[in-house]
Amino acid sequence: MKKTDYKEINETLKAVIQDVPYTMTNLANASALLNEKLEGINWVGFYTVKDGRLVLGPFQGKVACTMISFGRGVCGTAVQKDCTLVVPDVHRFDGHIACDSASNSEIVIPMHRKGRVFGVLDIDSPQFNRFSEEDRQGLEEFVHILESVL
Ligand code: SME
Repeated sequence: MKKTDYKEINETLKAVIQDVPYTMTNLANASALLNEKLEGINWVGFYTVKDGRLVLGPFQGKVACTMISFGRGVCGTAVQKDCTLVVPDVHRFDGHIACDSASNSEIVIPMHRKGRVFGVLDIDSPQFNRFSEEDRQGLEEFVHILESVL
């Protein structure tokens, strides 16, 4: 697998969201950008906090579950703990919610607005152990850039 150029991805994100004051629009383009640039993934998208739970937002991939309670699945656990979760084998994660049976590993990164969790970036891969420390850092920077326009 080719090395992911997070510098290029993150510069592109900055250019794409610049002067666009619409959150849904920016999240939609952000998911498209990651889908285009990341190899070996089968789902990438966002869940945002609404009415005290996570609700499906813009994404690329197969139809996904629409609502996730805090503390449930990888996404709900990442929100509850307010930290990035890198799951090398989703089948070994207690309570993992399988939206696409092809998924074998996953990364979930919480996003914040005004100091509170706004939602998550969720990426699934059919490869086991797809997300490295370098991916985590690159994607956390990606989320950090998005947070500046939430
Ligand atoms: N696997 C996630 C659910 C969302 S889908 O992967 C798109 C979870 O366990 O929270």
